[in-house]
Amino acid sequence: MKAIQFTRNSCDANSAIEVELEVPSPGGYDILVKVEAIALNPVDFKVRPGEGEDPKTLGYDAAGTVVGTGEDVTLFEEGDEVYYAGDITRPGSNAEYQLVDSRIVAKRPASLDAATSAALPLTALTAWESLFDRLEIDPDSPDENTGKILLIIGGAGGVGSIAIQLAKLAGFTVIATASRPESAAWCRKLGANHIINHHEDMPSQLRDLGMATVNHIANFNDIDRVWEAMGEMIAPQGSIVLITGHNSHLDMAGTFKRKSARICWEFMFTRSMFRTEDIIEQHHILKRIAELIDKGKLTTTANDSLSPISAENILEGHRRLESGKSIGKLTISGWE
Ligand SMILES: NC(=O)c1ccc[n+]([C@@H]2O[C@H](COP(=O)([O-])OP(=O)(O)OC[C@H]3O[C@@H](n4cnc5c(N)ncnc54)[C@H](OP(=O)(O)O)[C@@H]3O)[C@@H](O)[C@H]2O)c1
Repeated sequence: MKAIQFTRNSCDANSAIEVELEVPSPGGYDILVKVEAIALNPVDFKVRPGEGEDPKTLGYDAAGTVVGTGEDVTLFEEGDEVYYAGDITRPGSNAEYQLVDSRIVAKRPASLDAATSAALPLTALTAWESLFDRLEIDPDSPDENTGKILLIIGGAGGVGSIAIQLAKLAGFTVIATASRPESAAWCRKLGANHIINHHEDMPSQLRDLGMATVNHIANFNDIDRVWEAMGEMIAPQGSIVLITGHNSHLDMAGTFKRKSARICWEFMFTRSMFRTEDIIEQHHILKRIAELIDKGKLTTTANDSLSPISAENILEGHRRLESGKSIGKLTISGWE
């Protein structure tokens, strides 16, 4: 089978090459998937191999067809069209065939094609786990959440784009951050009630909206530069979820302590990486996302596409994503 492997931590020409590998065979809970489309995420460029490391088959988001099943698989059979975000500890989706644990996979939305389905899994899992597992918001009680305010930092990114929609469905008033007219327009289109600019003074923009504080903050981008602003904006006894690393020392006490604010982390790969007892939750979340898409309650966040899946296009995808200016998701589909 064809696979695209990165040989070094760069997106210059020839940093990724096409190689020929054996098709792996499934055992246990694994299914073998014929990959039809992938989507890129910042994690792809964050885990390219460094100096002295072996070449890596990267790629997490994928949509494809089941062509083989391990002996413990009960959820799928050959021919099922599926989507998933995979496991950071295993070879990725930049290959014609991939093994993936069936418990983190679901059937893809029937109303979408492979590419627009592949746009969803990693960011939808991150957004769902952030809001409903970490912030402990109830997705099924919109009446309880009416009048509550959620601030999403990084609204137009892959994660923010699906989180805006999930938070609206859960009943929240959503303030999303965006710094350009086109990213602000995208956030509004997805349902954000208000937009503020993350490169400007956020607490004062919040006050201008007549809201001194917010109940929850989902920070899906830079933490360092907005740390103090988050302390100012979070309501007493509010909660904050973080999904990115940070470069500076962060004062965990100060305002956050005075306000009894809760700060928690979300890492979408935790369940697969540690094979947690509730690993199957990712199957349930993706199933629920597919149902919401098919009912027209959520829309795909695919917004840019390339074809076919080749070293050249994956490198181009890494370049576009590394710019930090993506709006929604970039997908790559089909094989030559
Ligand atoms: N922990 C996890 O499980 C997990 C999962 C997924 C992603 N992540 C991480 O989360 C981050 C975002 O992922 P993503 O897929 O949403 O990225 P993305 O799609 O590449 O995000 C692009 C968006 O970021 C916005 N942005 C740029 N600088 C910003 C800033 N200083 N503050 C707020 N927003 C800013 C831009 O909006 P404007 O043009 O409006 O500025 C742009 O639309 C990445 O670091 C990624 O690795 C973590």
